[in-house]
Amino acid sequence: MKKSMLYKELAEYYDLIYSWKDYKGEAEKVRRLIDSYKMSDGNELLEVACGTGRHLQYMKRWFDCTGVDNSRSMIDIARSRVKGVRFAVADMTTLSLGRKFDVVSCLFSSIGYVKSYKNLNRTISNFSAHLKNGGVLVVEPWFTRSNYHPGIPHMTTYNGKHIKIARVNTSKIVGDLSITDMHYLVARDHREVKHLVDRHEIGLFDTRITLQYMKEAGLDVRYLKNGLMKDRGLFVGTKRS
Ligand SMILES: C[S@@+](CC[C@H](N)C(=O)[O-])C[C@H]1O[C@@H](n2cnc3c(N)ncnc32)[C@H](O)[C@@H]1O
Repeated sequence: MKKSMLYKELAEYYDLIYSWKDYKGEAEKVRRLIDSYKMSDGNELLEVACGTGRHLQYMKRWFDCTGVDNSRSMIDIARSRVKGVRFAVADMTTLSLGRKFDVVSCLFSSIGYVKSYKNLNRTISNFSAHLKNGGVLVVEPWFTRSNYHPGIPHMTTYNGKHIKIARVNTSKIVGDLSITDMHYLVARDHREVKHLVDRHEIGLFDTRITLQYMKEAGLDVRYLKNGLMKDRGLFVGTKRS
């Protein structure tokens, strides 16, 4: 079976391949939602699966931030980019930081990497356990089975002066997972072109089941159809007192 490398060996290309993404605009939208739904008094924010820290770069203007991710390579990049934020390597399925926050966020479909409903339920409980009463949870999910379209070819490119990247893929559905082998061609100055294949297995979780888990975890929750990215939606929950 092919292994996922994106958040390990391929971490150095992550920001290039996602250079099109509007992290600033998304952070501003998340901040507005937090302002609308947060009932607690503080401003401590935990971003789970923070990756290279691109949202935190903006969130730190408004919140006292902590970022966690289970990839050391991603955390190393985040730490060198974003000053004034605490970072730690931690797995969201077993998260236990021993403190509570006013906001917990998990964006860009990272929650899908927990893969199974059992892990999803456990992860949502962990998020809730890290929230103060009146605190807000913001989760941007991956696609559901009904709005995911497998088999369609995709290509993303990065055209820098000293590095060019082409990433192509198709995907399939197996059980409740989308499975995508991302093929990377990376060309750099004076080096052989590298071909790398990176497998992503991501849970296609049902919206109603996710909402149910959030309610059971003590959250008053809403699903917003128009979230940050097209067709992905957004869950926003407030921790009940
Ligand atoms: C699509 S990236 C999103 C990163 C970042 N939130 C962003 O918006 O750029 C998914 C992230 O989830 C992280 N991740 C995957 N499984 C995880 C887990 N079980 N616990 C914590 N982080 C995880 C990966 O290392 C990666 O950084």
